[in-house]
Amino acid sequence: MSAVSKKSSRITIPELVARKGGTPVVCLTAYTKPIAEIIDNYVDLILVGDSMGMVLYGMDTTLGVTLEMSIAHGQAVRRGIKRACLIIDMPFGTYEESPEVAFRNAARVMKETGCTGIKLEGGRTMAPTIRFLVERGIPVMAHVGLNPQSVNVVGGHKTQGREKAQWQSIIDDARAVAEAGAFATVLESVAEPLAREITAQVPNLTIGIGASVACDGQVLVTEDLFGLGEWSPSFVKRYAETGAVIHKAVEDYAKEVRERRFPGPEQTYRMK
Ligand code: KIV
Repeated sequence: MSAVSKKSSRITIPELVARKGGTPVVCLTAYTKPIAEIIDNYVDLILVGDSMGMVLYGMDTTLGVTLEMSIAHGQAVRRGIKRACLIIDMPFGTYEESPEVAFRNAARVMKETGCTGIKLEGGRTMAPTIRFLVERGIPVMAHVGLNPQSVNVVGGHKTQGREKAQWQSIIDDARAVAEAGAFATVLESVAEPLAREITAQVPNLTIGIGASVACDGQVLVTEDLFGLGEWSPSFVKRYAETGAVIHKAVEDYAKEVRERRFPGPEQTYRMK
């Protein structure tokens, strides 16, 4: 076990930003306290991602996630964290309308969960909102490249920047959100040379998911890393096959119950 050194306080945004170009920032998602408690020993930043809609709730897209869901899971995760920086995703429909709406909802998320900041999707279009939030005390993590909340406009979850013609628009997005004050930008499903170019051009942290080792840090959906489901995207490395372990445990339990071998003497209360 190689847990990072025990720190008594939570990792701050300036501490993370100081790592630009240095030791990569380690990020993972969490939606529950038990998982947050484990990963807090190893990661720098925990994201309560709206991927919860698909991973935890079985939705087809992330669009059905609500502010209440993000807050409830954010509170659970917060209870499991001692040191990692906690960022919570703003669900679709809670920030796009205006900077004022975004501020009201983001402030609610921060007040009710105790998180350090929020994440929202979008490039140049969201830059004025990012500036509005940061100037009023809300740290923002941006998210460009593939934006899953725009799945219906884009027509699927497509890798970005594989053709040179796409590059300038994505670079402009990454520069705009950095200039607006986002402390970090998630680059999702971005071809390696473009991720390298963006990382070199922007002053903030780039956190890649399917965006190569060129980024300043990496994020994965924890359930993918665990190998919980049968399928995971090609950019995921399955560090364990937890799904198979759970299958075996439940299979053994069911067998022992049917054979009256569980509960055994060790799991049975006796009279004093
Ligand atoms: O919702 C999420 O989990 C995310 C990460 C995949 C970056 O946005």
